[in-house]
Amino acid sequence: MKPIEIAVVGLGYVGLPLAIQFARANVKVLGLDIDADKVDLINNGRSYIKHIAPGTIEEVVRQNTLCASTDFSRVSKVEAVIICVPTPLNKNREPDISFILETGRAIAPHLWRETLVVLESTTYPGTTDGDLRTVLEEGSGMKAGVDFHLAFSPEREDPANEQSKVKLIPKVVGGYTPACLERAMALYSKTIDKVVPVSSCRVAEATKLLENIFRSVNIALVNELKLVYGAMGIDIWEVIEAARTKPFGFMPFYPGPGLGGHCIPIDPFYLTWKAREYGQHTRFIELAGEINTRMPEHVVHRVADALNTQSKPIKGSRILILGLAYKPNVDDERESPSYALMKLLAERGAEVAYYDPYVPVIKPTREHPQFAGRKSVEWNRTIIKAFDVVLIATNHSSINYQELGDWAQCIVDTRNAMAAVQVANGKVWKA
Ligand SMILES: NC(=O)c1ccc[n+]([C@@H]2O[C@H](COP(=O)([O-])OP(=O)(O)OC[C@H]3O[C@@H](n4cnc5c(N)ncnc54)[C@H](O)[C@@H]3O)[C@@H](O)[C@H]2O)c1
Repeated sequence: MKPIEIAVVGLGYVGLPLAIQFARANVKVLGLDIDADKVDLINNGRSYIKHIAPGTIEEVVRQNTLCASTDFSRVSKVEAVIICVPTPLNKNREPDISFILETGRAIAPHLWRETLVVLESTTYPGTTDGDLRTVLEEGSGMKAGVDFHLAFSPEREDPANEQSKVKLIPKVVGGYTPACLERAMALYSKTIDKVVPVSSCRVAEATKLLENIFRSVNIALVNELKLVYGAMGIDIWEVIEAARTKPFGFMPFYPGPGLGGHCIPIDPFYLTWKAREYGQHTRFIELAGEINTRMPEHVVHRVADALNTQSKPIKGSRILILGLAYKPNVDDERESPSYALMKLLAERGAEVAYYDPYVPVIKPTREHPQFAGRKSVEWNRTIIKAFDVVLIATNHSSINYQELGDWAQCIVDTRNAMAAVQVANGKVWKA
């Protein structure tokens, strides 16, 4: 039997596709996770992420190129360990790198000379060659760059984008030493078409933050322009469509009900926190965060306006949030602005429900424990008609917007999802 070559730690939205990608390139992969349910599902060839077909996992498990385990001592058998664990913010909105450090402590005693450790979790510059290196060296008794190799390579995952294949997305890599970089480049080149070397782990960490801050700032810009143009009676969506015909120097970003997902609402604050240590201010990032987090309030005002024309208050009104996932066509509802909308409307006395074909039930979350266990309503005329307002928070493409236009009493649309649908005048409110 072929020896296991690499371990991927953290089999979530990033780690699982990466593990599959290596396995398909005939690199034998050991997937490690603390979640025994995920490990069992993988070993039985089953998927727990909507956009990863079960057949894909079954194929590599059957070929024996992917297996999963909760036993971290098995790292002693691999040549490289890639870490893809979560990097959230704590309750004070400061970086929480505890998952990275726990992983470091769990693998360190089992590392052998020449093993390569690569961190992929998004984080502030200095995590790999500072925090992670320290726990690895303490736990292994070896020196990074001398006895074992260390690198950082950010993940560029675009869930549900059919064109976005791990193999085709250029991979930035920074090493702790030139030899570390060389090892990491050789590893990724086995399965990724283009590997982009940079001079250090810190440059690679900073690259990922730039990419996500770029999105956050530009989304904030169009969110602000939505309000400004809205007050002038100009539709921001029409403006963006016109502007995007410019063949150079413009890139479209779209407004929405607020930021969601594991990256854009969180990662920029990894940098703001670290920048303080250097006496640096991050005003663009803070301002973008402020504008984006204020969007749900704006949407609630639009719901109030829409109800007002029917002589109804928010209190006691039945409001359906359409789409709980943070972006179209995924089942990922982490940090979704839909939760903020549900909370704000419920606080004002509305009866709030949701419909999302990809999130049949709300799992317990630290941020919104009050919604755990709630189930999506069914999609039919009687149910949709019974709501005073349907609030489109996420524009899944599987939803029949013509049916929605025919059935709903009133629609508040944060995604321009109703643009191409014929509806009675005054029924749709853009927000
Ligand atoms: N989701 C994305 O689109 C995306 C894109 C680029 C970068 N990232 C970054 O990648 C990292 C992982 O994100 P994700 O979306 O895959 O998270 P995720 O929550 O989907 O998956 C993380 C996995 O790690 C496991 N885990 C947690 N602690 C662990 C530990 N101590 N040891 C082993 N496994 C552990 C969890 O059980 C889970 O399966 C984060 O830093 C994130 O910012 C995410």
